[in-house]
Amino acid sequence: EKGGYAHFMLKEIHEQPRALRDTLASRLDVSSGGVKLEGVNLTSEEARSLQKVVLIACGTAAYAGMAGKYIWERLLRLPVEFDVASEFRYRQPLLDEHTLALVISQSGETADTLAGLREAKKHKARILAITNVVGSSVAREADDVLYTWAGPEIAVASTKAYLTQLAALYLLALYLGRARGEATWALELARELACAPSKVEKIFDLEEEIQELASNLAPHEHAFYLGRGLDYAVALEGALKLKEISYLHAEACPAGELKHGPLALIEDGTPVIALATQEDLLEKMLSNIKEVKARGAWVLALALEGNEAVAQEADRVLYLPRIHPILSPLVSAVPLQLLAYYVAKARGCPIDKPRNLAKSVTVE
Ligand code: M6R
Repeated sequence: EKGGYAHFMLKEIHEQPRALRDTLASRLDVSSGGVKLEGVNLTSEEARSLQKVVLIACGTAAYAGMAGKYIWERLLRLPVEFDVASEFRYRQPLLDEHTLALVISQSGETADTLAGLREAKKHKARILAITNVVGSSVAREADDVLYTWAGPEIAVASTKAYLTQLAALYLLALYLGRARGEATWALELARELACAPSKVEKIFDLEEEIQELASNLAPHEHAFYLGRGLDYAVALEGALKLKEISYLHAEACPAGELKHGPLALIEDGTPVIALATQEDLLEKMLSNIKEVKARGAWVLALALEGNEAVAQEADRVLYLPRIHPILSPLVSAVPLQLLAYYVAKARGCPIDKPRNLAKSVTVE
């Protein structure tokens, strides 16, 4: 049932090009930049009347939502509030009928997410869900549902669900952008999105190198993930993957915050994973890499092909297929999943069922 792979997690990582294709294919019209989303029924008038979006999700689903915040705010110019469901539900959030509550859950059964959904409903927000399980509680209670076609995810660590949640967020950006009538970027985004699955496939050419890099990381007890903008959202997900399955302490830090505290933890040999895919922020990231290098850090950078300057600063660089910077999480998340997998393997961890964790958190 693991299809020849040693673990479900590795199988699911490798299923991602297929999962992405399934989630995108029947919905995306590349010739017009339009989308057809069965189950999502906001009229133009409803879409235009939205004043803000609040995210309701936990863990990896919340980090997909955080990437969604950067993506939607940039494309739709609509404010998106980010916090995790367990904070959202207790902070007396301000919502009304002009709020879109974006609920993201692989299982559709997470207790805090469901409670957040109900809280938002009480305030008459429109509930839009992204979930992987047909007929799940979240799907039943939402006004609109967009399914991810990841297929069953068995490993506790979420991989293909995350990638397809991102895909759903891009599809919804296209949907809402056109419904709100401000989508000059739609055609280009749709075209680039259609090419994403084959770019994800190319990441597997790096797998052996990632395995070798993982053996450098495995003996350490701490690792830092740095990023700016969208890269920061992916850094959070990368760090979560590593701590969850390899039990190595990993911390994601917005690169601009280094000097405000975390830099004190960098010493000789500290591993730093620096995400540098956002070209408008590249200069800033390069100076952050220099900053940690000067304190002795060992830096593994992730950059898009062609950004040779990164190789001059970092110890090692994984070059990823060129993609529109707004789509970069689709290619940058995958090497981080593989890195976490191979570190956990080198440390002899029970990868598919990490200690203390359950696949679906249905209690608070
Ligand atoms: O089923 P859900 O998407 O609602 O689950 C949310 C989190 O429990 C889940 O993403 C968790 O963080 C994963 N173990 C991360 O890999």
